[in-house]
Amino acid sequence: MEMSLSGEFLRVVEQAAIASAASIGNGNRKHSDWLAVESMRRSMEKLPIDGTIVIGEGERDEAPMLYVGEKLGLGMGHPPIDIAVDPLEGTNLCATGAPNAITVLAASEKGGLLHAPDLYMHKLCVGPSAKGQVHLDATPAENLKIIAQGLHRKVGELTVVVLDRPRHEDLIEAIRTAGARIQLIGDGDLSAAISAAVSGTGIHAVMGIGGAPEGVITAAALKCLGGEIQGRLVTDTNTASREKAEAMGVDFNRIYFTDDLAPGEHIVFAACGVTKGNLLDGVHFFGDGSRTASLVLTRRPRLVRFVDTVHVNEGESITVRF
Ligand code: FBP
Repeated sequence: MEMSLSGEFLRVVEQAAIASAASIGNGNRKHSDWLAVESMRRSMEKLPIDGTIVIGEGERDEAPMLYVGEKLGLGMGHPPIDIAVDPLEGTNLCATGAPNAITVLAASEKGGLLHAPDLYMHKLCVGPSAKGQVHLDATPAENLKIIAQGLHRKVGELTVVVLDRPRHEDLIEAIRTAGARIQLIGDGDLSAAISAAVSGTGIHAVMGIGGAPEGVITAAALKCLGGEIQGRLVTDTNTASREKAEAMGVDFNRIYFTDDLAPGEHIVFAACGVTKGNLLDGVHFFGDGSRTASLVLTRRPRLVRFVDTVHVNEGESITVRF
C-alpha cells in the first residue's frame, strides 16, 4: 500500500500547501487553515482508498471537513486506511509569513495510528542515535548528556527546540543550565521533531508540551526515520474532556512510545513546506505555476524521499529552470 499511495498522498499535501501559501502573511490563520483543509478534502475524495480520518480538525459537530470519523476516498472495495491529518501545521506561521509552516498527513492500515484526543502531550523527540536511550522522566540534563554522546558532540553543541510558552519556563531554565542551545519556536513542534531525526538540520531534540494529535503524526514520521518520540498525555482540568479521553482508553500515567502512537506495520507520511523552514523549502509561485518541496516517508520499503515538484498551471507552457 505504501508504494501505491505515497504518490497520491504527496499530491494531497502539495496541493494543500499551494492553496494555503496563497494566504501567507494575510494575518488570518483560520482562512489559511481553511484553504489547506478544503484542498486536502477535495484531493482525498478521489483517492482509491476506503479512508477514515482518525486525527483531524476535531469532532463532526465542530469541524465541517476532515472531522474525526469522516470517510474519504472511493470507499468500499478499496484498501481500508486510517488517516491522521494536520492540514496546516503552524496556522499562525503561515498567517504571519514565519518559517516552518507545513501541510502534513500520515496514513496506515486500520488501527495503525492511535486515536489521540485533542489534548496536550508532554513530549520528548530525538533522532536515531538517542533512540531507546533517553527517557521522558529523566531530567533534561540527563537526556542531553545521552543525546550528546550518541552524536559524538558536547552538550553545548546541541540545539533543543521548545515551544515558546510560559508553561516551559522551568524546562527552558533546565536546558540552559545543562548548557545546550535552545531554539524557541512560536508554533510547529511537529516539523521540529522531524528535523531532530534528520542529520544536518541543526536540531537535535524537541522537548516540552504540545498537541497530542501532532504527537501521533510525529510518531508516524519518526518510526520511518528511525527516531523516537515519548509522550504522556497531560491531565485535563476540564472534567468532561478528561472523562471523554478516559472513555477513549487514554491512560494519563502512561508513557506512549513511538510504536504505541503509531503501531502500524505500513505507514506513509507526507509533508510539504508552505513557508521556508529548517527541513523544507516553502512554496514558490511564478507566473505560470509553482514549485514545492516535500518529504515522503514509507516504512515498507523504508524510503525517505525529498521531492521537488514544479506544478504547471492548466493550459500554460513553462520553461523549467534548475
Ligand atoms: P496550529 O494549530 O496553529 O497548527 O498550531 C500548531 C502547534 O503549534 C503545534 O505545533 C503544537 O503542538 C501546538 O500547536 C501547541 O499548542 P498551543 O499553541 O496551545 O501551545
